[in-house]
Amino acid sequence: MLSEVEQVRRRLSRNTDANKKSQFGQFLTPAATAAFMAGLFPPAEGHCRLLDAGAGIGSLSAAFLERWRSGVLCFERVELDAFEIDDSLHSQLTHTVARYRGDDFSATLHGDDFIHAATEAITGGLFATSLPQYSHIILNPPYKKIGNDSAHRLALRRVGIETVNLYSAFVALAVAQAAPAGQIVAIIPRSFCNGPYYRPFREFMLERAAIRHMHLFASRNKAFKDDAVLQENIIIRLERGGEQGLVTISTSTDDTFSDFASHDHPFERIVFPDDPERFIHVPTLPEAQVIEQCPIVRYALAELGIEVSTGPVVDFRFKQYLRDMPALGTVPLLYPVHFSTSGITWPIEGMKKPNAIERNSDTAKWVTVRPSPSMFERAPAV
Ligand SMILES: C[S@@+](CC[C@H](N)C(=O)[O-])C[C@H]1O[C@@H](n2cnc3c(N)ncnc32)[C@H](O)[C@@H]1O
Repeated sequence: MLSEVEQVRRRLSRNTDANKKSQFGQFLTPAATAAFMAGLFPPAEGHCRLLDAGAGIGSLSAAFLERWRSGVLCFERVELDAFEIDDSLHSQLTHTVARYRGDDFSATLHGDDFIHAATEAITGGLFATSLPQYSHIILNPPYKKIGNDSAHRLALRRVGIETVNLYSAFVALAVAQAAPAGQIVAIIPRSFCNGPYYRPFREFMLERAAIRHMHLFASRNKAFKDDAVLQENIIIRLERGGEQGLVTISTSTDDTFSDFASHDHPFERIVFPDDPERFIHVPTLPEAQVIEQCPIVRYALAELGIEVSTGPVVDFRFKQYLRDMPALGTVPLLYPVHFSTSGITWPIEGMKKPNAIERNSDTAKWVTVRPSPSMFERAPAV
């Protein structure tokens, strides 16, 4: 069964044009990753209410249902709600889940926008479809910036969710719609772990759910390689209302999982207890690294008054403004040679590279940092 869905996914990935992929955030999960994600749900029984929001052609639902039908998950009954806004995928999605049909399985396909449907369900709008509290949620949500005054942003704000990307909005709504002890497994970009823009999302998530497991693909271009997506992805398992305990961190280079490695870490190593930013660290080695033990790492760069944007100054384009040494009206230029394992040495006299660049109307644009929360999120590598 999975191999049939996988064939359709590969065909779609080849034939869907880049504009449509980016319009819908449509990067479908390869079968091996989908099976890995389904495998993260702990053994369970009883009545399963499953949500797959942004379901695509149903790759994740199929992986979950496959695990159920193979007897590893022992539910008496599964009710699936699949949300997919792109109606050109509906017939394939229906076909995928129809394979699991039986008296003990029902599936409802919602063609509407998940953000609007879920926020209306939460606020109890007059025309809202009521949604159950889900015991299981599996997600590969769309990835796209949410505009400040967009309808999505306003709808989310009404239910107390302040976030800047569709993917974090989907996860926040999944957390909101999860039943007590509900399990959520999602594959998402790693960008939510740091940065001020995702702080309200981190707070929303960490107040309501325990992090049980995070899996990191070490190679940035492997998780969605057929779509040439260049981005660090994380698979996260959350438990709604769970008491926070150890967090399992696993890694693999790619979706063959051939070098899979896993360690359990105390939560204090994941979110430092005194960190108001609630940054989420993903330690990939069992023992604490020197940098983690260094007190300065407990501060966000913003708190130290530093903003960073790597590489905006293309030096050979500004030759006339480069200066060997700093002077009035210049700003520092830092090259790898200035960095060492123990710190930064700047300026360095007599080096081949300049130490500074004149700040003037021609260069101002390039030496002023204007951070963007998701500049490179899910950008196809072309
Ligand atoms: C990253 S893809 C993943 C698809 C599928 N979950 C998978 O893993 O293969 C995200 C999907 O969400 C759909 N989508 C985008 N915005 C949506 C919205 N607001 N509501 C529901 N679905 C949406 C896209 O059409 C796309 O199929």
